[in-house]
Amino acid sequence: MGILSFKSHLFKLSSLLFGNNNLLTSKTFLKSNLLSATYCSGNSLQVQENEHITLPKFLDVHLPNARQTLKLDPTWLRDHCRCPDCYNAVTYQRNNDILKLNEHSTISAHSQSDGLLHVLWCDGHKSIYSIPWLVSNTYEGRCQTQEEETSRIITWDGSMGNITNLEPILHRNALHDDNTLSEIYRRVIHYGFAKIEQVPSTEIDTKMIIERVCRMSRTVFGKFWETGTNFDHMDSGYLNGYLEAHTDNTYFTEAQGFLVFHCTHFNGRGGESFLVDGFHVAKQLKLFDPVAYDYLSKANITAEYIEPGEHFSSGGAILRHDPVSGQLEQIRFNMLDRAPLTSVPQPEVGTFYRHLRTMAMLVRQKENEYWFRLSPGTVMIIDNWRLLHGRNSYEGKRVLRGCYYSRSDFMSKARHYGIIS
Ligand SMILES: [Fe+2]
Ligand SMILES: [Zn+2]
Repeated sequence: MGILSFKSHLFKLSSLLFGNNNLLTSKTFLKSNLLSATYCSGNSLQVQENEHITLPKFLDVHLPNARQTLKLDPTWLRDHCRCPDCYNAVTYQRNNDILKLNEHSTISAHSQSDGLLHVLWCDGHKSIYSIPWLVSNTYEGRCQTQEEETSRIITWDGSMGNITNLEPILHRNALHDDNTLSEIYRRVIHYGFAKIEQVPSTEIDTKMIIERVCRMSRTVFGKFWETGTNFDHMDSGYLNGYLEAHTDNTYFTEAQGFLVFHCTHFNGRGGESFLVDGFHVAKQLKLFDPVAYDYLSKANITAEYIEPGEHFSSGGAILRHDPVSGQLEQIRFNMLDRAPLTSVPQPEVGTFYRHLRTMAMLVRQKENEYWFRLSPGTVMIIDNWRLLHGRNSYEGKRVLRGCYYSRSDFMSKARHYGIIS
C-alpha cells in the first residue's frame, strides 16, 4: 500500500473513530489532523495536491554517486528514528506510538554530511540516520535489492548444463565449518537445491546433519520421517509407484519451505528421482502462453490431505507472487492433492483446465527433468516453493529418511548468512 492510500485508509479509520463521516470535509480534517506533517519554516520542498488531500512534503536526501534524490515522507522518517527513545536496539523493536507519530512528524531543520542525515523535529527531538541505511530500508531501495537477489537465482533445465561444475559439499565440512554451511544456503537459494555427500547412514548422523543446517519442522508427518519401513500416513509418497513432479503440502496454509531427503538403503530396481525447476517452467509458460501464466497466477486452487483424524485444506494460486515486488515466489503444483474444484464457476472451468494442461505439459517436458539416483550417503535439501520433485516406481526395499524445514526458519538462517536480505 502506498503512503497516499495508507493515509486515505487512516483517514477513513479516523472518520470512524471521531464520527466524522462527511467526506466533503475531508480536506479540512486531513489538513488539521492527519497531515500535520508540514514544515515549520522555509525549505525548498514542494507541496503536491490531488483532488482529495494535500500530500505531505518530502525531504530530499541526496545520494552520493547518484543523480537521483531519495524523497522521504517525514512521517516515515520519524517512524524510523533509531535513537534509544524511539527504538530498542536490544530487542530490535520500535518504542514509538503510532497514534502520536503524525503530530511528531514536523521537521524544523535538517542537514546532510558525511553519509548522515540530521533532522531536528519541531518537538525538539533529534534524529540521525545513516544514508545507506535509509536507502536499503525504503520501498525504493528494497525493490532494487530484490531485483539483484532475483537476478542471482539461476534457473536450469534437465541438462543442468549451468551448474554441473559445483564442488561437492562433504559431510565433515558441513558439520564443522560455517563457511560450508553458508555455501549450502547459497546453493539452495540460487539453484533450488544442495547436496551433502558422504553422510553416514545411521539415524543419528542423518538427524545431526539435518539439524546442523536448520531446525526440523513438525507437521502431521512428524518431525523426522522414514518411508520404506512403515506406512504411517495415507500418502502416495509412502508407496512404491511412480510419482509425477509435484510440490509438497499444497494443502497447508503455508507449504513447508524445504524438504530434506536421505536415502539410506536401496536394494532393488527403479526408484530413480527427478527434479523440475518450477521457476524455469514458469519462465517458459510466460513466454509460451502469457495468458495462461496470468490466469494461473490468479485462479484459486484448493488442495487437501485427509487421513484418520485430519483434514487439511488450503487454497491459493499455482503461481504465487510477492505482493510488493511482484516477483514469482512460490509454485503450488500437485495434481494428486487437488480438492474438488469449487473455486471456479462452471462456465470458466474449460479455461481453467486448458491453462492447467498447458502448465502440466511444460512440467512434463523431458528436457525439464533432471534425473539422478538418491544414493546412500547423499543428503539433499530441496526448495519446495520452487522445485518439483518426483520419482520412478521401484521394486525392492528403499529406505528414505527426511524432514521439512519451515520457510520462515530456513529463510531466517539464509538472511543471517547474508544470502538474502
Ligand atoms: Fe513429495
Ligand atoms: Zn528518536
